[in-house]
Amino acid sequence: MVGEHFDEGQQAWLAGPTGLTWTPGGVPISRRFEDPYFSLSDGFEETKHVFLSGNDLPARLVPGFRIAELGFGTGLNLLATAQMLRDNGLRGPLYYTTFEAFPLSKAEAAAALSAFRVLDGPASELLEVWDDLGTRPVSLSNGLSLEVIVGDARQTLPQWAGQADAWFLDGFAPARNPELWEPSLLQAVARHTAPGGTAATYTAAGRVRRALDTAGFDVERVEGYGRKRHMTKARLR
Ligand SMILES: C[S@@+](CC[C@H](N)C(=O)[O-])C[C@H]1O[C@@H](n2cnc3c(N)ncnc32)[C@H](O)[C@@H]1O
Repeated sequence: MVGEHFDEGQQAWLAGPTGLTWTPGGVPISRRFEDPYFSLSDGFEETKHVFLSGNDLPARLVPGFRIAELGFGTGLNLLATAQMLRDNGLRGPLYYTTFEAFPLSKAEAAAALSAFRVLDGPASELLEVWDDLGTRPVSLSNGLSLEVIVGDARQTLPQWAGQADAWFLDGFAPARNPELWEPSLLQAVARHTAPGGTAATYTAAGRVRRALDTAGFDVERVEGYGRKRHMTKARLR
C-alpha cells in the first residue's frame, strides 16, 4: 500500500499501469513509445540470442557476476537469466540490477509473461515479489539477486555506485525511445562497466554503435535474431 513511508521512486513503482495495447499474439505494446516490449515472434528466444549469447553467457558466469539492464519492462530478460541458471545447474550469487522509468503493474507483467509457459516457475516467483520491486533488492532462486532502480536512467545510472560485467541494453527502438540511447547515457554505461565487461543489444543502429564506440567499447555487428538481420555486441576497451 502506498503511504507516507514510500518515497517518490517507490510510489512510481506501485503506480502502474503505463498504458498498454496488446497484439493478438499477447505481446504488450507501450502506448507511450508505440513499440513492443519484446519480439513479436518469440521474445524468449530473442532474449537468449541477443542478451545472453550476446554477452557470452552462461560461459562467463562466475560467482558474484553482475548484470545490469536498461529497461526492466516485463522482466522477461531477468527470467531468461533465471532460467539459464536453472538449466545449467548454476548457483549465484548473480547480481541483476535494472533501471526502469515506467514500471508495469503486476497484472500487466503477469499477462505479458503468461505467454511463456517455459518460464512459469521463475515467473510466479517474480510476480510474488513484484509489488516490492523498486523498494528493496529481492532474492530469487539459485542465488539470483534482483534490484530495480526506478526513475529515468539518465538521472539514476550516473548516481549508481555499482558496476556491471555484462549490460543488457534494452530500450525501445532508438527512433522511438532516443532517451535510452543518448551518447551521454552510453558513456555512463561504460563508466559503470567492469574491466573486460560487455554489452549487447538487439539494435544495430549506426548511431548506437558509434556512441558505444565513442564511450570506449569495441563494437561488433553480428547476426540478429529472427527477422532482425543484425544486432550489436560490445566489449570495453
Ligand atoms: C523494450 S522495453 C524493455 C523490455 C524488458 N527488458 C523486458 O524484458 O520485458 C524498454 C523499457 O525501457 C523503459 N524506459 C524507457 N525510457 C526509459 C528511461 N529514460 N529510463 C529508464 N527506463 C526507460 C520502458 O519503460 C520499458 O520498460
